Amino acid sequence: MHDWQALIRKRDFPMIENAQCRGKTVVYLDNAATTQASRPVIWTMENYYMRQHANVHRGVYCMSEEATAAMEETRQLVAEFIGAASPDEVVFTSGTTQSINFLAEAFAASVLKPGDLVLATEMEHNSNLLPWLSACSRSGAELALVPVTADGELDLEELGRLLEKKPKLLAVCAVSNVLGTVNPLREIAEMAHAAGAAVAVDAAQAMRHGLPGVCSLGCDFLSFSAHKIMGPTGSGILYGKREWLERLAPPHTGGGMVSSMQWPEINYEDIPLKFEAGTPNLAGIAGFGAAIEYIQALGRERISEYEVSLIKYAEKRLSGIPGIQILGSPAQRFGALSFTVPPLQAYDVALMLSAEGFALRSGRHCANLLHEKMGVSASVRLSPAFYNTKNEIELLAAALERLLAAAKKAGVPVGGVKNG
Ligand code: ALA
Repeated sequence: MHDWQALIRKRDFPMIENAQCRGKTVVYLDNAATTQASRPVIWTMENYYMRQHANVHRGVYCMSEEATAAMEETRQLVAEFIGAASPDEVVFTSGTTQSINFLAEAFAASVLKPGDLVLATEMEHNSNLLPWLSACSRSGAELALVPVTADGELDLEELGRLLEKKPKLLAVCAVSNVLGTVNPLREIAEMAHAAGAAVAVDAAQAMRHGLPGVCSLGCDFLSFSAHKIMGPTGSGILYGKREWLERLAPPHTGGGMVSSMQWPEINYEDIPLKFEAGTPNLAGIAGFGAAIEYIQALGRERISEYEVSLIKYAEKRLSGIPGIQILGSPAQRFGALSFTVPPLQAYDVALMLSAEGFALRSGRHCANLLHEKMGVSASVRLSPAFYNTKNEIELLAAALERLLAAAKKAGVPVGGVKNG
């Protein structure tokens, strides 16, 4: 364990250092689902409720002004974190799912026409697939999917062919939540832009490893959630390039986004407020800001380097265990690795591991299409973060070896069959 890691486990993540469940020490390896909130995040949220809690952009009294300033400071922090040209391009949402639904609804209302084409990919989480399916069905547009290769990479040749059809938008994840595949976003964005398509990036799984900034990447939209970067749940953002956000009609309406009204004529506030109807999740936004400061202080380069070394170690160790089949072999993985132990069911494997204290996700991880493509009905996912250690991966590997030995002893034909 690195010195910095021992320190942060003890100081900032008591849940990681001390958690027990049914008498077992918990080894938390489900960070692609939710990361543990760091202590500064928890303190910031507590402080918000103890000292600052008031509505924003609505009051002239001191507490409201302070709460407004704190929220706008977080907007600034997010803009710097993602490399946006201006904080006005950052819209607060409840998380990635809401961000993409927002965008897809707005696109259906303001951009898409019958016969238009939208592209997504076979490796998308359902949150970056179903909103586009529904936007297309509402607007009469068509949704086509960029295929995934057997290695678990995007088929860029096929993307090139699909782009010849001049789609209006390409929806793509930065990192697969199942395989950990790191997509070559810069190349993809260049290809899409050359074909006249806007690029919307689901960066939910990517923000700890440090994407190139949205400006240098040239993406038009980007979404992510605070709870994947050691922040609170219920808080996230939609980034949109200024010209896009100004063009799109707000999909939700209500208080806080109206600048003037001469019934029934309504003028909306400028961006980003025109997209933020209702009272935002103020404590969540405060925690989001603290999460960004925490990640920045630790350094995304260091986090990425360490997490990549951990996932490489896991891949090497698990692929050496007869009976374990790792899904895909992309050139670069970040944050997640999924496997099967045929003929055991993924659910049963996760349940047996859970009895030993390991927290891993099993199932389709909201990526049904990708599982179908990889030829498996479900998988077990291991998703470490920077507070995990090589030793925890080693403990997991040893538990899997015990599980396989017990299955063999019971006459289950593990190790002898292909994925299924
Ligand atoms: N998107 C989260 C996952 O992949 C919930 O588990």
